[in-house]
Amino acid sequence: MSSVALAFSGGLDTTVCVPLLEEEYGYDEVIGVTVDVGQPASEFEEAEETADALGLEYHVVDAKEEFAQLCFDSVRANATYQGYPLGTALARPVIAKAILGVAEEQGCTGIAHGCTGKGNDQLRFEAIWRDSDLEVIAPVRELGLTREWEQEYAAEKNLPVEGGSGGDWSIDTNLWSRSVEGDKLEDPGYVPGEEIYAWTDAPGSETEEIEITFEQGTPVAIDGESYDPVELIQQLNEVAGAYGVGRTDSMEDRMLGLKVRENYEHPAATTLLSAHEALEGLVLTQEEREFKQLIDQRWAKKGYEGLVDAPLVGALEGFIDETQKRVTGTVTIRFEGGQARAVGRQSQYAAYSAEHASFDTETVGKITQEDATGVAKYHGFQRRLANEAIAANEADVELKADGMGEAEE
Ligand code: ARG
Repeated sequence: MSSVALAFSGGLDTTVCVPLLEEEYGYDEVIGVTVDVGQPASEFEEAEETADALGLEYHVVDAKEEFAQLCFDSVRANATYQGYPLGTALARPVIAKAILGVAEEQGCTGIAHGCTGKGNDQLRFEAIWRDSDLEVIAPVRELGLTREWEQEYAAEKNLPVEGGSGGDWSIDTNLWSRSVEGDKLEDPGYVPGEEIYAWTDAPGSETEEIEITFEQGTPVAIDGESYDPVELIQQLNEVAGAYGVGRTDSMEDRMLGLKVRENYEHPAATTLLSAHEALEGLVLTQEEREFKQLIDQRWAKKGYEGLVDAPLVGALEGFIDETQKRVTGTVTIRFEGGQARAVGRQSQYAAYSAEHASFDTETVGKITQEDATGVAKYHGFQRRLANEAIAANEADVELKADGMGEAEE
């Protein structure tokens, strides 16, 4: 008996995939798999009910911890792509690996997803799955299905779908971000109302300060209280979300080259990224910070591509690990006007001397103010010479233009 593992959400796309995998691809059995990366409980209920109604063998794999760890790796890399902290992108390899695990355990010969041929997720899933010998199947893409066709087919087959669940928008939620796209949002000029948001309240005039503690670049505590990674993220989503922190509205350049209008909510991610960067600002040297931007940007790009297991990422993390050894300390964040702003920071590794920087001290150790005089004399020296040369030749050119230069020769 041949079986195929299907990434299953209970939505329209993955539900129509079930009979199609049998009819069109000849599988005897479809095994549904949902991977828990922190979706709301209602999504699991929907998936389970639908799986039940379809008579599907159904598995749920809890990958929240692994996912939260990866989110924290992304904080160490200050990772965002066009303002988006990569929630969907980072979750995909975690989900793909978990489904592959079930598929192998259950002796499946195929593995399938319900992604269309337009998005990023097909690429992220398949990069992992094509590492195996399983037949990779993408029914929606391969059969060129449209939403309308799927709805008709579902009605005809009496499939248990409530005509495109989740309302008008296409929503993807996990611990790190909630993304909203489609429908009216496809018009880049359309200004969405509050109804697209579920994690954030509209920013008001209230403010609050919290302290976030990092150990070697990894967040470990809020206001002195330790949390495990999953709880820490959940807690911050609640607290920062209440102040309207972490909303992004962008024209996202997808991997295939399409631009897509995306709206995101990510209160915890925004807060942690802001705090982490502030702590790096205290601890790392100027040249480390400057070079790390290049490293971070590359990390974020691989994250967006769903390729966090590429050797390049391991190499980038060699640099990141080395710098993060000192990124230990506490940052005070103020939620204000929809922002999570760092308003204080402290670390035992601060590359900072109040004594040296202060306006109130003249001589510290062997360094006096006067020592800067020599530096000041040389600062900009080369450009002075160059500009003098330019000016001298300009005078020459003007003389020539007046015909006086030539007359003299
Ligand atoms: N464009 C984002 C990404 O590729 C998120 C897409 C989320 N999907 C959705 N149906 N809202 O990472």
